[in-house]
Amino acid sequence: MMKRLLAALAAAATIFTAGAATAQTFPDRPITMVVPFRAGGPTDTVGRLLSQAMSRNLGVQVQVQIVDGAGGTLGAQRVAEAAPDGYTILLYHVGMATTPTLYPNLGYDPLTDFAEIGLVTNVPMTLVGRQRLPVSTWEQLIAYMTNNIDRITMAHAGIGSASHLCAMLFSQLTGLDIVTVPFVGTAEAMLDLQADFVDFMCDQTTSTVAPIQSGSVIAYAVTSPVRLQQIPDVPTPAEVGLPGFQLDVWHGLWAPAGTPPEVVARLNEALRFALTDQQVLRTFALFATNPSPIEDQTPEALRAKVASEIELWRPLIEAAGEFVR
Ligand code: MLT
Repeated sequence: MMKRLLAALAAAATIFTAGAATAQTFPDRPITMVVPFRAGGPTDTVGRLLSQAMSRNLGVQVQVQIVDGAGGTLGAQRVAEAAPDGYTILLYHVGMATTPTLYPNLGYDPLTDFAEIGLVTNVPMTLVGRQRLPVSTWEQLIAYMTNNIDRITMAHAGIGSASHLCAMLFSQLTGLDIVTVPFVGTAEAMLDLQADFVDFMCDQTTSTVAPIQSGSVIAYAVTSPVRLQQIPDVPTPAEVGLPGFQLDVWHGLWAPAGTPPEVVARLNEALRFALTDQQVLRTFALFATNPSPIEDQTPEALRAKVASEIELWRPLIEAAGEFVR
């Protein structure tokens, strides 16, 4: 009996020592940042900027790995199941809070299977249409949609994506039951929008500021409470008479649950460094993308955000019924 107890204590001490050594030497090899959406989309854009800046602080490569599918949940599950050593982290967005309601058999729990690192960005969305649509104002848009409801289509990047959530919110608020078309990513959807194969899309300003500025798509509204200086002619939800059409695509950074607190703290330090990096801030500004406020760049703030947003979106998703099938 005593021998078994001593052996167990020795094993526990070895594991603790190894863990402590890991935390003390972290990081000593490349880190994988899982981006759960297709390359070229808004999350990938944020991920590449963030990973490069975090690499400069951590002294090791932070490499983006695309693990897309099922509205970001496949990538999230990959990280939930990864070794809790800080070498696999997840960049995800509001989908972390909507998918528990959208996917009843989610393979992970957003609040127990992850160690939060901090909030990263707040990104507005825009409702855009293909350039050759015969509508340019909001009033013309609603009339056109109403009169052509059986013919028009709205693209998104899969159930659980921000583009899908935005389309669902728009449909709920207007009562327009638009046919939605899922794409593997919003970058692919944007190409079809510009080629007139799909009529509308909600997407993040990370991806839409440039085509709006170039005139290759028509912008009908932003989902932010104030107009955006990068696209100053695009009205706010209140200005078009749909004040509830507000959606902030917040992004967060997570590690697997069980990651040592010292490792999480080091990753948080690198995140906060990245969000003061001038190259990151300049590029974010081009996309009307804002770093989360400093007080939100903490594990506690991210955890509170996920918990509150799960409750915020649940009733809308449950009321959406068929829209989410
Ligand atoms: C993306 O990165 O492709 C987007 O975040 C997808 C989405 O959430 O609409």
